[in-house]
Amino acid sequence: MFTKKPPLGWNSWNTFGNDISEELLMQTADAMIEKGLKDAGYEYVVIDDCWSLLERDENGDIVTDPQKFPHGMKYLADYIHSKGLKFGMYSCAGVKTCAGYPSSYHNEFRDAKLFASIGIDFLKYDFCNVPAGSNGPLLYHTMSMALKESGRDILFSACNWGADHVETWIRSCGAGMYRSTGDINDNFASVRDIALSQVDKLAYSGIGCYNDIDMLIVGMYNRGNVRNGGCTDVDYKTHFSVWCMFGSPLMIGCDIRNVNDVSLDLLKNKDLLRINQDEECRTAFVCGDNGNKGLAFFRHLSDNEYALMFVNFADEEAEITLDPDKIGLWNGCGYGLSVRDVFSGDKFVIAGEHKEKLAGHDSKVFLCRTTAI
Ligand code: GAL
Repeated sequence: MFTKKPPLGWNSWNTFGNDISEELLMQTADAMIEKGLKDAGYEYVVIDDCWSLLERDENGDIVTDPQKFPHGMKYLADYIHSKGLKFGMYSCAGVKTCAGYPSSYHNEFRDAKLFASIGIDFLKYDFCNVPAGSNGPLLYHTMSMALKESGRDILFSACNWGADHVETWIRSCGAGMYRSTGDINDNFASVRDIALSQVDKLAYSGIGCYNDIDMLIVGMYNRGNVRNGGCTDVDYKTHFSVWCMFGSPLMIGCDIRNVNDVSLDLLKNKDLLRINQDEECRTAFVCGDNGNKGLAFFRHLSDNEYALMFVNFADEEAEITLDPDKIGLWNGCGYGLSVRDVFSGDKFVIAGEHKEKLAGHDSKVFLCRTTAI
């Protein structure tokens, strides 16, 4: 499926891992509507690994686990579609998924037909247990072509964690989004490491094929499958802001049935989502640097707007400086930026060098326009 904006949705893995069920998925679809997440733009409900039995059936098909999904997968797909949402599932390019369930190596066309018969709209395709000597990129080409052959329009979400210089070939294989990092953990170091590892790769992401820097941990607070210390609300704010600024797909990873108001407001922040979903899908670039502590990023948006972000990746307070020269506003050009802080609403004009002093892990995001100074 060709998609003109980074996909938005929810995925079961970060919180639930193996502990998935029809009931959880149906309640999650309901919660996406009740909590206003669908209205905010989130539309995919995705089951990750661990949905099937451990063996294929006598015809060679993967079998949905009847204990986890007693009415079968089509029933769940129909329920999700009846809510106006889209349904995603998971397989893997190897002989087993990462959790050891049957996966699609040399069964690509068969499995794609099964997924199409269920009615999926999205397939996440992982990279565990690939036989030695296989050509990784070609395994993604094969599944992409199998999905196209399946008769259903399915968004292909590749997940090879950045292997084989994925950013250089993934667009050519027909994927709609691609994971370019290892797995996120619920702590700030993981957010920082992922963000810093992607700065040089952002220019590969664009309309139709987006660099997915992994599912969100917002609202997890050290509960669930990828818990590893947990985050503060400030950490989550910075995490979500970076993912929006970088134009990543946004796949919520917390239990949205029980999400708290702070996290829900963050996930629905209109200005951040406007930046993430900007129709021009332009690349954020570095426009200020404080050694390894913090960075400032700038991004051109549609409608002659811009986004400007300051992030302190360090644990202690740091000052990050915007050098206007680095965004093209040379000293003496007569123009600066009229900015609005997307969290506080504060408005002011930046005319020349601008410093932001931020507490450890904190960030600020501004929507801006040029203005005569
Ligand atoms: C990993 C993948 C995770 C999750 C997990 C399931 O390889 O990066 O996002 O899908 O497998 O086992």
